[in-house]
Amino acid sequence: MSDSREDRVGTGIQGLDEMLRGGLIAGRPYVVSGTTGSGKTTLGIQFLHQGVKNGERSLLVAVDEPPAEIRENFRTLGWDVGKIRILDVHPATKAFSKRVSLVEVAAQRTVGVLREMGGGGRAEAVKQAAPEISIQSLQLMLKQEFQDAHYDRLVIDSLNSLRKLSETDEDPSSPIMSLLRFISESSVTALVITDLPDPTELEPEIFICRGEIRLHKRLISNKIDRWVTIEKFRGSAHDTVPRPVTISETGLSVDRSKKIPKNSIRALQAFTYSAR
Ligand SMILES: Nc1ncnc2c1ncn2[C@@H]1O[C@H](COP(=O)(O)OP(=O)(O)OP(=O)(O)O)[C@@H](O)[C@H]1O
Ligand SMILES: [Mg+2]
Repeated sequence: MSDSREDRVGTGIQGLDEMLRGGLIAGRPYVVSGTTGSGKTTLGIQFLHQGVKNGERSLLVAVDEPPAEIRENFRTLGWDVGKIRILDVHPATKAFSKRVSLVEVAAQRTVGVLREMGGGGRAEAVKQAAPEISIQSLQLMLKQEFQDAHYDRLVIDSLNSLRKLSETDEDPSSPIMSLLRFISESSVTALVITDLPDPTELEPEIFICRGEIRLHKRLISNKIDRWVTIEKFRGSAHDTVPRPVTISETGLSVDRSKKIPKNSIRALQAFTYSAR
């Protein structure tokens, strides 16, 4: 069991690091789950930005939002997001932009057929061709990235969008599993962002990833209350109590000294049970 501080990776959120007894264990993948607007992307960018501040290399796989929008949103927080490398897997870019995205490049490398498709048929061809190959292409791209440079931190935002992007008749769980295994065997500390896991399914990210940080959001008395729980953290002691979260112009913060109010606990319990 590893509980020493030297192999811990700070998330960039002090209260969360305290909940994790010093931070995440280096070189392992973790799930960050939560409903929409619960702060998953903010947490992910904060984690990558912390890496940049430490002089580490940070990589974001952007599926949910186009990179330009991410940079714009987080630059307003005064974060140096320019130093975060972003792989653009956003479907709008991929299907409609004239600019050849990295996914298309990887796809061309992989199958070598898109090059022959010219003119107006190209965008449509990419739209049709990419879904079958996108997860494998992403894995190839990451392999290439990791060969070219050492990365300390990786965020995939999000796995659900990646799944949707690759909707075919075939079950995407096998390429997802392969991608997660690849990430897990790389020495990068990774956050895999997902919606709340389906309690009736044994999603591969839940058993491959070494821990799960879950963000909760609930409207209580006309006010949005936010909490965080550590659902699982292999190889480490951790806080088992839900702690309050705030999102402000400095990003996410977790107050480890505070317990959540009783009425919020009741709502959180109801929420957690229904989510399980
Ligand atoms: N400066 C700020 N002050 C207060 N709240 C903010 C601020 N910036 C962002 N937020 C809140 O954080 C939320 C954004 O969280 P974020 O985009 O990280 O959520 P998410 O879990 O990634 O959502 P999605 O599932 O839709 O991708 C906003 O909806 C807003 O409520
Ligand atoms: Mg998001």
